[in-house]
Parts: sequence; structure tokens; C-alpha cells
Amino acid sequence: MIGLDACTDADLDDFLTLALDPRVTARIGDGTPWTPETARARFRRGMACCARGEGLWLIARDGTGVVGVVVGELDHLAEIETGIWLAPRHWGRGHGRGLLGVLLPMVRVRFPGVLPTAYADVDHAASAAMLRAAGFVEDGTLTGRHGTEVTRFVAR
Ligand SMILES: CC(C)(COP(=O)(O)OP(=O)(O)OC[C@H]1O[C@@H](n2cnc3c(N)ncnc32)[C@H](O)[C@@H]1OP(=O)(O)O)[C@@H](O)C(=O)NCCC(=O)NCCS
Repeated sequence: MIGLDACTDADLDDFLTLALDPRVTARIGDGTPWTPETARARFRRGMACCARGEGLWLIARDGTGVVGVVVGELDHLAEIETGIWLAPRHWGRGHGRGLLGVLLPMVRVRFPGVLPTAYADVDHAASAAMLRAAGFVEDGTLTGRHGTEVTRFVAR
């Protein structure tokens, strides 16, 4: 059975298990593997965002370890950008769609009227399919923060 909790500082090691796996980060940012420093900094930024009341980070675990982390964070556009890291052994089993399906209603309650978004590499078929299945729709393409072409998704 999968359990879901709000992330705390104590979850750093589980986050590192995901973020230091090059298969997980291959389609995030510029695709290069994350260093431990990059991963720790990303986790600290997320926890600080949650502490300010500007983010929601949820961690899913089963009996054997971490399944994934799903996040929503207020961004510079005053939108909630969502993101997801899933352990490869759990890919393709509906957990991505399921975790977003838990996160989105929580985002809508916590941040009423704020638009949830997601950005995925234009050729990341798994992300696009998961986002559509979770209720997101495509809202154009743009050059992302890391210089790659990304599709913007919104959940209206
Ligand atoms: C992207 C990711 C979150 C998808 O999660 P997932 O649990 O594998 O996806 P799901 O099983 O919930 O599948 C949701 C939909 O995507 C489809 N899908 C899953 N893997 C796919 C693949 N490799 N290619 C095409 N479609 C795929 C499923 O068929 C399903 O569509 P359906 O409902 O129409 O049948 C997961 O692969 C992952 O964590 N990857 C590494 C991190 C990452 O890239 N995060 C996203 C950055 S934008």
C-alpha cells in the first residue's frame, strides 16, 4: 500500500534517492545528472517555499521505500508550477497520474484561484500523457529556463 505525507526536512535522503538517479532527471531541466549539491539545494528551496506557505510537497512511500515526490510551488508568474519525480520501478503504473490527482485538489484549496501549471520537454511523451490524464491541457510551447523547448500545460 502507498502512503502519502507532507514532506519535511527528514525526507532529504528519500528525495536524494530520486534526484540522484540519472534516469529520473534525464528529462528534467537540461537533462544532465544532478550533483548531490544541486539535489540538496532543490530540496532546501522546496522546504523553504513550503515554510513560507507558498508550496506543497508530498512524498509517497510503499513498504519498500520511496515511490515519488510531487510538488506545487508558487512561481514568479503567480502560478503554481507542479513537478514530479517518480522512482523508475514505479513508472507506467498510474502513480504519476494518481499523485497529481491528489495534489491538484489540495493546491486548489490552499491557493484558490491560482492556476496550476506544468512544463515538460516537448518530446517527453510520458509526461505529456500523464499530465493530460491528470486533467492538464496544453497551452503552447516556449524555450524553458534551461534553453530547451518545453510545452506549457495548465489545469483550469
Ligand atoms: C513522467 C512520470 C512522472 C510519469 O509517471 P508514470 O507514473 O510513469 O505515469 P502514469 O503511469 O501515471 O501514466 C499516465 C499516462 O502516461 C502514459 N505513459 C506512461 N509512460 C509512458 C511512456 N513512456 N510513453 C508514453 N506514454 C506513457 C500512460 O499510458 C498513461 O496514459 P493513459 O492514462 O492514457 O493510459 C515518470 O515517468 C517520471 O517520474 N519520470 C522521471 C521524472 C520526470 O521526467 N518528471 C516529469 C518532468 S516534466
